[in-house]
Amino acid sequence: MIDNTEKHDTKATASPGKPDRGDIAEMLATATTSGTESLFSQALGVRVEKLGTKAYLRGIVEFSNVCAENCLYCGIRKDNRNAKRFTLPKEEILKEARGIHGKRYGSIVLQAGERRDKEFVLFVEDILKEIKKIGDGALGITISLGEQTEDTYKRWFDAGAHRYLLRIETSNPALFAEIHPPTASFEKRRGCLDILRKLGYQVGTGVMIGFPGQSIGDIADDIEFFRSQDIDMIGMGPFIPHKDTPMGAERADFDPRFQLELALKTIAATRLALPDANIAAATSLRALRDDARIDALLAGANVLMPNVTDGAVRPSYDLYDGKPMDDTDLDAVERELRANGLEIGWDEWGDSPRFHKRKTAMEATRHA
Ligand code: 5AD
Repeated sequence: MIDNTEKHDTKATASPGKPDRGDIAEMLATATTSGTESLFSQALGVRVEKLGTKAYLRGIVEFSNVCAENCLYCGIRKDNRNAKRFTLPKEEILKEARGIHGKRYGSIVLQAGERRDKEFVLFVEDILKEIKKIGDGALGITISLGEQTEDTYKRWFDAGAHRYLLRIETSNPALFAEIHPPTASFEKRRGCLDILRKLGYQVGTGVMIGFPGQSIGDIADDIEFFRSQDIDMIGMGPFIPHKDTPMGAERADFDPRFQLELALKTIAATRLALPDANIAAATSLRALRDDARIDALLAGANVLMPNVTDGAVRPSYDLYDGKPMDDTDLDAVERELRANGLEIGWDEWGDSPRFHKRKTAMEATRHA
């Protein structure tokens, strides 16, 4: 009898540029339980081989839901009058940052709605400098604050941020236009990723998985996009409709099980296509099943971002319906990881090896 699993394994990981787009689309279309299980275990195998057994933590502080943008899927879009707006004061953010250090998470992510005004730019710069002082530069610092000017990105880099997350949301420009206001542009977003890379950031991007109008082919293209742009960090999560948004009406046909499986297959296929990138087990997975992020960590993801935002404002950072409000039970996560031969990288930055390889290659060219 022919062993199909074996054949599939060889095809997917044999040579550079593999899996190709066709292989990726095939993985995403996997419909049998045995097929998806084989895909997930193959992705886990590649992850352990290339990155080892550690899952890295980033405590995320969602410090403001004030947003100047109007993305059609997002619960904190400017026009959502039902969102109760907040911005945490500096001291509160720093308290949470110290808490992250105390809990030995290794890295912090600062995320907020998009604002480009001077006051905000300086506020963030000041906070970054203060966070850098905690434990004498002990914390890795990722920021996720949307599209900004090169000058702003540079200011924040110089102040201590070294990783930036800016999701492209979809690599299909026509779809991008459909889910964003007319003022947004795919090319502009892509250009921001180029600027971030040029400035020396570890560059993270990602997409929403399974939103209306998006096909399996689009998701295969998204993964090709990550590879072609040499992305260091990837954060992708399932699209979950939010009732107060133009895309909230899609809730009627929403199938959480399908959505979860597609998200996990996307993570696994991305791991096979970019073996040494950091891939996050996104929080929105939890809206589909409480422990779904563990499934993601067992299907190729290697980063977990527990929400540490102050409980009083946490419900207001309401990106999609059913966003979890409680803390991550890291004991449970650690137990599950251990049972599967994985572990948590306490106190470590856990940078993407992909970034360090590119940096070394760039330096070698410069000195040649
Ligand atoms: N469903 C899933 N993810 C969403 N995001 C925003 N709205 C939704 C939604 N309805 C994600 C976007 C954004 C990130 C901060 O949250 O991908 O980049």
